[in-house]
Amino acid sequence: MAEANLLLGKEVASEIRQKLKEDVAAIREENEAFKPGLAIVQIGDRSDSTVYIKSKVKAAEEIGMFARHVKLPRTSTQADVLKAVDELNKDSTIHGIIVQLPPDSEEPIDPAICTNAVAPEKDVDGLHDVNAGKLSRGELNDCIVPCTPRGCLELIKKSGTEIVGKEAVVLGRSKIVGSPMADLLKWHHATVTTCHSKTKDLPDVVRRGDIVVVGIGRADFVKGDWIKEGAVVVDCGINVIPDETKKSGRRLIGDVHFAEAKKRASWITPVPGGVGPMTVVMLMNNTVDRAKRALQ
Ligand code: GUN
Repeated sequence: MAEANLLLGKEVASEIRQKLKEDVAAIREENEAFKPGLAIVQIGDRSDSTVYIKSKVKAAEEIGMFARHVKLPRTSTQADVLKAVDELNKDSTIHGIIVQLPPDSEEPIDPAICTNAVAPEKDVDGLHDVNAGKLSRGELNDCIVPCTPRGCLELIKKSGTEIVGKEAVVLGRSKIVGSPMADLLKWHHATVTTCHSKTKDLPDVVRRGDIVVVGIGRADFVKGDWIKEGAVVVDCGINVIPDETKKSGRRLIGDVHFAEAKKRASWITPVPGGVGPMTVVMLMNNTVDRAKRALQ
């Protein structure tokens, strides 16, 4: 079999960014003073979070949105975070709010309390229990879908794969990737199996998948011979490994052994340049969607 086609999230994200830019420009033709507004709450100083937030702010501004980075100190308490989120909930210039995870605080901060403090209609990460509950029940037109699964779905559609009736295998059951991904595929009428650390005979289960989505955070974990011939493979992993041949001394790899899997898959996402850029653009898409609704 020929090698897999690449599902280039970087290119798809760029097309969606262009469309969002046009959408925002069209909104502003009628409402000159209006801009979709995104607020990102950061607790502490994790350098990886700061890098992600900067790329989100830059993407928002390029589209013509307004982005506010709300930085809280490492000494912040849970109450301080709730207060900051509540102010943003009440701010009519803000249409989307995310609390960047994980929090980096000297005080005990519960991520679920933070994400549930965001008003469900501004929860552009789709992590509020109300949005997760609606997604799990298939109320897709009345919920906000988390960005990474929404991006993965776009990529699967881009491959031209018919999802209805397919066997889909999702590795991982996190709130941010695995669980919403499984729900999304289920309500697009795939037959979905969710795998996790206690799954028995994992390679055999993964081999059932016509569509395989992986989000477990373990470098090169899924081997080539776990992949069914012709499967569509979507890798949400972003793992940093040492690489002396690089100037930075490191490089990014996914959760799937790319070189092996691409010999069996029909389509596969690379890392980097696959799912990652889709996550950022879907955050913008969710925010523009909320801004449009706020105008209705
Ligand atoms: N940390 C890593 N990825 C994400 C994300 O998509 N949203 C939030 N809020 N925090 C993250």
